[in-house]
Amino acid sequence: MLYTTVTQLIGQTPVVSIEVPDRDASLVLKMEKNNPGGSMKDRMARNMVAAALHEGRLAPGGIVVESSSGNTGTGLALAALEFGLRFIAVVDHHAAPDKVRMMRALGAEIRCIEGDFAEDEVAVVERQRVAAQLAAQLPGAMFMNQSDNPANPEAYAGLVEELFAQIPSGIDAYVGCVGTGGSITGIAQRLKRYNPMVRTIGVEPAGSIIFGKPGHPYYQSGTGTPAGDEVGKVLDYSCIDEAVQATDAQAFETARYIARRKGLLVGGSTGGAIYKALEFIFAGKLTGKVVTTVVDGGEKYLSTIFDDEWMAKRRLLDPAIGSQLDDWLFGKPYAM
Ligand SMILES: Cc1ncc(COP(=O)(O)O)c(C=O)c1O
Repeated sequence: MLYTTVTQLIGQTPVVSIEVPDRDASLVLKMEKNNPGGSMKDRMARNMVAAALHEGRLAPGGIVVESSSGNTGTGLALAALEFGLRFIAVVDHHAAPDKVRMMRALGAEIRCIEGDFAEDEVAVVERQRVAAQLAAQLPGAMFMNQSDNPANPEAYAGLVEELFAQIPSGIDAYVGCVGTGGSITGIAQRLKRYNPMVRTIGVEPAGSIIFGKPGHPYYQSGTGTPAGDEVGKVLDYSCIDEAVQATDAQAFETARYIARRKGLLVGGSTGGAIYKALEFIFAGKLTGKVVTTVVDGGEKYLSTIFDDEWMAKRRLLDPAIGSQLDDWLFGKPYAM
């Protein structure tokens, strides 16, 4: 097959299985980092733009405006190129620097929110306000508003079809990060429609307010909903059986662990989902094929969570987490 546009490279991502010893379970990683923009959000970005064009809310030559920590923005930059649109990404200091560089490299215009924010504070409320205002002021512009856009969860239909084909023995559980809630809603609803016995676990960062816990700042980028912001209208709580929080240390130490033990560079939010999936398996609460998405790759975080100094400065290094993972995955301390 010869492709002619970059967005034709979206989807058909491979799966990698990590066997869990002494448990009747394996962790299946859907490698969404293999999408052309490096994250699962390529699927929904393209779908939102295509839907807006189809419904006449956006016309060729128009302007896409979105508040993004980087992954949605990168997907939108690709979609804008394909459909001949301008794209303005509204970001804050919380966005991983390499993600912002990537959006700029793909032709996005970047507007960074100014303000007196703590380093681990997400300025998402201000980001949303500025994006909506910009779109209202610029002729032919549209604020994509991924948190409230039904084309966000709908974009994951293809991912679920791929999983059914890739895991013919059946899927027993899905453990997914929750930010806008678009991916877990789109994936969990479809999995349950096919088999109501599928267990679904939503993972938010500790400090996020989606599941009713008090908010505080956190470093995990792109996921969760910080205090002061509204939970996405796309999120369907009813398709999530259990909700848990991953600390920054659990998320980042797990991402670092999976890189050095399995050779897979996964992003921070994925680290949190993997840690929680294993915790559920070892608590005897999940068995069989437990799927999680590798939302994005560690390549986007080399100067942050994969940098020892960055981690140490923020007191996020915790060797006990690596030992716990060794115990879970190898039944003992890892030996070379
Ligand atoms: C790195 C990362 N993890 C998790 C999520 C959460 O995904 P969703 O918005 O579908 O809930 C996102 C969303 O942008 C993300 O970029």
